[in-house]
Amino acid sequence: MNSKILILNGPNLNMLGVREPEIYGRGTLEDLRGLCERRAAELDLEVDFRQSNAEGELVDWIQGARGAFAGLIINAGALTHTSIALLDALLACELPVIEVHLSNIFQREPYRRHSYVSEAARGLICGLGAQGYAFALEAHRKLIDGAAS
Ligand code: DQA
Repeated sequence: MNSKILILNGPNLNMLGVREPEIYGRGTLEDLRGLCERRAAELDLEVDFRQSNAEGELVDWIQGARGAFAGLIINAGALTHTSIALLDALLACELPVIEVHLSNIFQREPYRRHSYVSEAARGLICGLGAQGYAFALEAHRKLIDGAAS
């Protein structure tokens, strides 16, 4: 059974640690990668953790995930609120998608309250910082186990 999870991070998430630390915390993207890899190993999952500032590259990665991964975790950054192209790619990939945000997008500016990604997502975790990615991995473990039984 395929137990590979693709974790995608969108624009500006490479700036974690220095970018608005009062909102996003002091942990870096590499810290986040480490947390995901450790939790994945405990859950007997494989992860492929990527970040891009380019919408087209994210679309290409989502298209390539179809059939190759068991599930997807995405924090699309600001593209969450703007990108129909990402939504279409997520719908086309036919994988369970879990949307993650470090901050609580419903507690912030009104323009962050709408998510195109949510329309393709099985679930949404936001406001719990890096821990949200670990919870998303747990959810994928359960979805894989449920599909196998
Ligand atoms: C974010 C929330 C988005 O609104 C913002 O544009 C980001 C990060 C989060 O993880 O909280 O870049 O996705």
